[in-house]
Amino acid sequence: MQADIGIIGGSGFYSFFEDATRVEVDTPFGAPSGPLTVGEVAGRRVAFLPRHGEQHQYAPHKVNYRANLWALKALGVSQVLGPCAVGSLQPELTPGTFVVPDQVVDRTYRPGHTVWEAEGPVVHVPFADPYCARGRAAVLGQASDDTPLVDGGTLVVINGPRFSSRAESRWHSAAGWSVVGMTGMPEASCARELAMCFTSVACVTDMDAGLEGEEGVTHADVLEVFAGNVERLKALLWRTIEHLPTGECSCHRVLDGLPLPFPLPTPAN
Ligand code: ADE
Repeated sequence: MQADIGIIGGSGFYSFFEDATRVEVDTPFGAPSGPLTVGEVAGRRVAFLPRHGEQHQYAPHKVNYRANLWALKALGVSQVLGPCAVGSLQPELTPGTFVVPDQVVDRTYRPGHTVWEAEGPVVHVPFADPYCARGRAAVLGQASDDTPLVDGGTLVVINGPRFSSRAESRWHSAAGWSVVGMTGMPEASCARELAMCFTSVACVTDMDAGLEGEEGVTHADVLEVFAGNVERLKALLWRTIEHLPTGECSCHRVLDGLPLPFPLPTPAN
């Protein structure tokens, strides 16, 4: 089973196709969050993976990010779309807004943050521009009256599973960062380490604690607002897939010429 595009669905986004084939993929890092489902959209083979598992059993700090990205790579995926729920750090980014970030700040402290941990040649991939320019343009081209998109911004990723304190939130906001989430890293960096394009679409579900000045955010708020926006998000991703360019991208060349501690997976038929 092969696919070209990967979608990693977040909280409240557990399936993408009606008609799809389930595939179990094992990886050197253990099992991914669940079986992948592979289907077709606009003539492209798409693999879907629910980031938190089919029963939402993996909290953000328990997700096996590198296994998830490796599993997609093993199916032949070259472009990954990673939608996620985020809190807002700026007053104009209100719940229901979709942000297509162009930068990330990693404040996570989790094991398994790199695929290149084995002994052997050291691999340092470039990460100045963490997101695929081509993928971002494809998403941004699908903005509509119903689904306006914010072009650019910084996603700060906290470790979780708790939300930020008011002081942390004010600090993130004062730094000028746009949105805060718990899953954007090491997802984006593992994709880069495996020479795949990665594009984030961040759905604002709440005003984070530093802005709201009241109770702060709860998981129930996040799930409720995300559920209210998930159909728009799926439609946006569907249109994006129809417009994602095929062929080579600079993201695919980051390992060219580098000695690797072990080979990358190659897709089976
Ligand atoms: N995901 C959704 N809302 C969030 C918030 N306020 N902080 C961290 N992750 C989130």
